Amino acid sequence: MASPLSLRSIVAAILYLSPSVCTAQEAVQQDGLPIRQVAIIGAGAAGSSAAYHLRSYADKYGVAVNITVFEKTAHIGGRTLTVNPFGNSSQRVELGASIFIQKNHIMYKALEEFNLSPRDPDEDSDSTLGIWDGDEFVFTIDQSDSFWWNAYKVFMKYGYLAPRRTQQLMVATIDKFLRLYEEPYFPFRSLTQRTYELGLVDVTGLTGEQLLKQNNVGDAYAHDIVQASTRVNYASNLVRIHGLDTMVSMAPEGAMAVKGGNWQIFSKMVKKSGAGVALNTSITSIAFAPKENKTSFRTRYAVAAKSSSSLSDTQGEYPVLFDDVVIATPYQFSKIAAADGVIQHPIDSIPYVQLHVTIFASPFQYSPAFFGLTDPKTVPGTILTTLGKNDTPTSGVQGAGKAGFFSISHLRKVVNPDTEKQEYLYKIFSPEKVTPEFLSRLFGVDVPETFVGKAEGSTSSAAPISWYLPHVFYSYPQALPRVTFQDPIVGPGLYYTSGMESFISTMETNALMGKNVARLILDDILGASKGDSEMDSKGVESEFGEGGAQKVIWDRGRGEIPKTRPTEAVFQDM
Ligand SMILES: Cc1cc2nc3c(=O)[nH]c(=O)nc-3n(C[C@H](O)[C@H](O)[C@H](O)COP(=O)(O)OP(=O)(O)OC[C@H]3O[C@@H](n4cnc5c(N)ncnc54)[C@H](O)[C@@H]3O)c2cc1C
Ligand SMILES: *[C@@H]1O[C@H](CO)[C@@H](O)[C@H](O)[C@H]1NC(C)=O
Ligand SMILES: *[C@@H]1O[C@H](CO)[C@@H](O)[C@H](O)[C@H]1NC(C)=O
Ligand SMILES: *[C@@H]1O[C@H](CO)[C@@H](O)[C@H](O)[C@H]1NC(C)=O
Ligand SMILES: *[C@@H]1O[C@H](CO)[C@@H](O)[C@H](O)[C@H]1NC(C)=O
Repeated sequence: MASPLSLRSIVAAILYLSPSVCTAQEAVQQDGLPIRQVAIIGAGAAGSSAAYHLRSYADKYGVAVNITVFEKTAHIGGRTLTVNPFGNSSQRVELGASIFIQKNHIMYKALEEFNLSPRDPDEDSDSTLGIWDGDEFVFTIDQSDSFWWNAYKVFMKYGYLAPRRTQQLMVATIDKFLRLYEEPYFPFRSLTQRTYELGLVDVTGLTGEQLLKQNNVGDAYAHDIVQASTRVNYASNLVRIHGLDTMVSMAPEGAMAVKGGNWQIFSKMVKKSGAGVALNTSITSIAFAPKENKTSFRTRYAVAAKSSSSLSDTQGEYPVLFDDVVIATPYQFSKIAAADGVIQHPIDSIPYVQLHVTIFASPFQYSPAFFGLTDPKTVPGTILTTLGKNDTPTSGVQGAGKAGFFSISHLRKVVNPDTEKQEYLYKIFSPEKVTPEFLSRLFGVDVPETFVGKAEGSTSSAAPISWYLPHVFYSYPQALPRVTFQDPIVGPGLYYTSGMESFISTMETNALMGKNVARLILDDILGASKGDSEMDSKGVESEFGEGGAQKVIWDRGRGEIPKTRPTEAVFQDM
């Protein structure tokens, strides 16, 4: 069968594989191989993008792949998910990842390709925003005022240079990052190496505070404005987040979201990929498949899967063996057991932020007394926070400081089906569970232990909380400064996407890592790597023994990777 696939792989093998690695017999062997079986574990941004891009590369280069996506939950999107207030799907709201920007090429292109409608995430929200330090609002702004008036307010308080320098630094940093999408930086086998090559190590290796100081951004602006952004975006104070995430936090200009939920981008991607999708299915282990006979040279994997919907603990080996496996979820939370030797480059456990996201509906508005104010009209709709005057900047619960939470926003109005009246929809980001006591103070009305319903003996006419949904995420890493990142290839034909998260954790960057892995798989199938040929390995002995095309790919670019450990150890008091 002389399909374009067979011709291409033979040509690729002859052109690119050194004879010591691939004999003519093996090239034929590869030609005779059945369709490449690829497993993707996790259908979040990374896994969905990997499936979508692998399919599009495979089509473009005429290679045959069969993709299977395994997803533990019943939905596609992972941390990108919506909830329905009052169970009404036309009032849905983002519980996880809520915004992206136009410069997010993968997200934006997908939005257009799939004919999804963009939405301005702020369109229905209150136009007023304040930054509270636990005692007072250090800065407030009304976005319905003119741009010039607001600019004037910023300049009056923080001067002209601090915002300007921050903006310039942000643009320069994002521009460097965007080069990662193009040759010769894309695809990449080592994120660490690219971080050095793009000069981004100067921003990932410093805290946001150090980076801003180095660029002569005034302390007050850094403390109030930039820190409010790192807190709402990454639940981190400036001394506990690296410069790259700090700059990403300052880049929400032109923020957008998908009408009906951002998860739809990933759902469409998976659909377009033609992958077989196993929902409610957890992968519990990955092991080497036994080699069938002496002439089969590829490493293949056997995975065990478990249904997460059934009560029984049934678990079994999946009937298909895989040539490639993509782990597209933070490994430390995945409950995947890898057999001895499978993960050749150990995947480090990294500290994640535990974030409480609480969404609820209420007919009440904030009590001005909570914020030390008297006039309800002076309380902003969106409340970001920064550290108080006597707060020590740490992480976690203490890190929230006197304010006690990272942000509270009044998202928009919703209809309560019981009263058929409009109410307010709120979202709180906090390091700890929200308590009825806290909500009682926030709204100046008794909130019962059960949250919803009326408190005993309450005289108010309406229940203070009519719909309530608390959720806890391991939302993203605590992005401490670091100069090395988990690389995407962890074994022959075994890939890992979440190393991206300590670099930048967003839907887009994880989707980029998914695309990168898809490209690495394609290059491996073709037996050569385009645009990276300057890095050809010269007879490097593989640590994986016999490995064919995989071996060549795997060896390439090795040796340049600094072996230093992340700088996490510096922060002993975590
Ligand atoms: C509250 C919150 C707000 C955020 N805000 C934004 C934002 O505004 N903009 C932005 O860009 N990013 C935001 N982020 C970050 C963004 O959500 C993540 O960076 C991104 O969604 C991660 O995608 P992922 O595919 O790498 O991982 P995930 O989305 O976590 O996907 C991994 C998937 O793997 C599945 N899985 C895990 N283990 C197994 C297993 N053993 N077998 C099978 N499946 C498994 C999981 O169920 C999950 O669906 C936010 C995150 C949170 C939590
Ligand atoms: C593709 O993978 C699925 C398993 O996910 C398997 O059932 C199917 O037989 C495979 N198809 C081919 C053509 O290999
Ligand atoms: C060895 O395994 C390959 C791949 O599964 C198969 O195509 C081939 O027929 C086998 N050869 C022998 C001699 O069994
Ligand atoms: C997954 O499980 C959920 C809840 O147990 C169930 O409602 C849903 O129908 C299941 N979906 C699939 C595709 O099995
Ligand atoms: C769902 O919400 C929409 C929009 O707010 C509203 O028009 C509709 O009546 C609601 N449906 C129910 C069943 O409450």
